[in-house]
Amino acid sequence: MHANPVIHVDGLRQRYGDYEAVAGISFTVGEGELFALLGTNGAGKTTTMETLEGFRPAHAGTVRILGRDPHRDRRALRPRIGIMLQEGGFFNDLTVAETAGHWRGFTPAARPAAEALALVGWATRRA
Ligand SMILES: Nc1ncnc2c1ncn2[C@@H]1O[C@H](COP(=O)(O)OP(=O)(O)OP(=O)(O)O)[C@@H](O)[C@H]1O
Ligand SMILES: [Mg+2]
Repeated sequence: MHANPVIHVDGLRQRYGDYEAVAGISFTVGEGELFALLGTNGAGKTTTMETLEGFRPAHAGTVRILGRDPHRDRRALRPRIGIMLQEGGFFNDLTVAETAGHWRGFTPAARPAAEALALVGWATRRA
C-alpha cells in the first residue's frame, strides 16, 4: 500500500441513466508509478478517467487525486495534473518550439518552452 497515493479509487461506480458503466472499481497509484488501466471496449476506462480528471462526480465510491476530490477541488487540482487527450495530434505546420508554446498555454505557470524542450533533450530541434 502507498502511504500518500497520487490516485486513490475505492468502490467507484458511475451510471448513465439506468446503465451502470463502472460497477465498483478500486485501485491506488503511488508517486512515480506507471499504471495502465486496461479493459475491453465499453469496460468503463474513459468514464473512469473523466472522473479522475474531475469532469464528472462519482455516483458512488471515493476518488482522491493528491488527497483531494477531483470534482469538488478541480480548480485547485487542475494546475497540478497533466492530461493527454485520447485523440489529438499535432499541427503539421508548427515547429517543435511553436508546438510546445501552444501546449504550455493550457497550463498555468508552465515552465518556459525552451526549458521544457531542453529537459527532454529536444533543445536542438526547436525549428
Ligand atoms: N454519455 C454516455 N451515455 C450513455 N452511455 C455511455 C456514455 N458514455 C459511455 N457510455 C457507455 O458506458 C460504457 C462505458 O463507456 P466508456 O467509454 O467509459 O468505456 P471505455 O472502456 O472507455 O471503452 P473504449 O475502449 O471503447 O474506449 C459503455 O457501455 C458506453 O456505451
Ligand atoms: Mg474509451
